[in-house]
Amino acid sequence: MEKKKAAAFFKRALGFVCVTIIALTLVSGAYLSFFFIVHQPVETGAREESADFVFDINALNYMDVGDDGSFSIMLLSDLHMTFGAAVLRDKKTYDGISKALETQNPDLVIVNGDAWATPLNLPSLTTFADFMESKRVYWAYAFGNHDSEFGFSKTRLVNKLKEYEYCVFDEGPKNITGNSNYFINLRKGGDIVYTLSIIDSNEYVKYRKIYDYVHADQMEWFGRTLDAIRAAAGGIVPVSVFQHIPVPEFKEVYDSLLADGYFDTHLSDKGVYSPDYNSGFLSFLEAAGGVDAMFFAHDHYNDFGGYAPGSSIYMQYGYCSGYMANLTKELDRGVTMVYLGLGADGFLTLDPSRDIKHIMYGEM
Ligand SMILES: [Fe+2]
Repeated sequence: MEKKKAAAFFKRALGFVCVTIIALTLVSGAYLSFFFIVHQPVETGAREESADFVFDINALNYMDVGDDGSFSIMLLSDLHMTFGAAVLRDKKTYDGISKALETQNPDLVIVNGDAWATPLNLPSLTTFADFMESKRVYWAYAFGNHDSEFGFSKTRLVNKLKEYEYCVFDEGPKNITGNSNYFINLRKGGDIVYTLSIIDSNEYVKYRKIYDYVHADQMEWFGRTLDAIRAAAGGIVPVSVFQHIPVPEFKEVYDSLLADGYFDTHLSDKGVYSPDYNSGFLSFLEAAGGVDAMFFAHDHYNDFGGYAPGSSIYMQYGYCSGYMANLTKELDRGVTMVYLGLGADGFLTLDPSRDIKHIMYGEM
């Protein structure tokens, strides 16, 4: 009798294990097929640019500033939308953005990467883009490391972003690394008075082990385009740079703040999630001159700013804006506002100690 019971139990257990293995194989097979099909790059119609390429300066993105030269930017960082996997948290994030747009009324929103972290990245992008268009606010997008990690390829996302009227976006030349490399020139009375550079800081090297960085071909393109903008404007047009993953020198800012005894909710005890390899982008920007600031996202818990030793470029984390990021730390989320104003030389100016402000959704 006992032997029969044991045999029946063994049979049931074996059946359960077999069914589980078959189900897992089917599910993972379906997901891998989905991933490999939708992750393939598609044609976007991007142009080729080489060192001798002569582009039309008027073909770059432009926005006009007001008569008083004021221009406000709202930074949204790490929204981490899931498209339904975390309905309540996604809703809370959308409610927060709505409140921020109503109360802060920015001239431009820059979404600094990782707006979604889901295999359903394309529907998530579409939902977000429809939402932004319904608000009739101009918005720009810089790709983060999670945007195309689990689902549709970046080139498919690029083609989607290009469909939206209020989305100020350009993927940049197709023969350089990344899919969101572009400038937005700010004009006053037709003259270029400031430029915003959106950079793709890419994803990973060595298959998800280490974060990627801004590549040499991106720097070459950046320098060439900035030179053309400055030639068109007849002066050193000041610039701010927006990219998702911070440069390695931001670790030096973190270390110096710690050494000064500055440790509060603005610094994560996890450090700075920058690439191991330093491609030299900060040094490159120092040499270019006229760079006011760099703005990053990515770290969720860090929101400090400062100068790396010997650097004249202010570096700043945007405040984490999404409720699906920061899961273990129940902080309020919010936005970072950047206020540009008219300087004595006729160009716009940015004083980091005065013109950058984190605002929590709960404070609005
Ligand atoms: Fe990230």
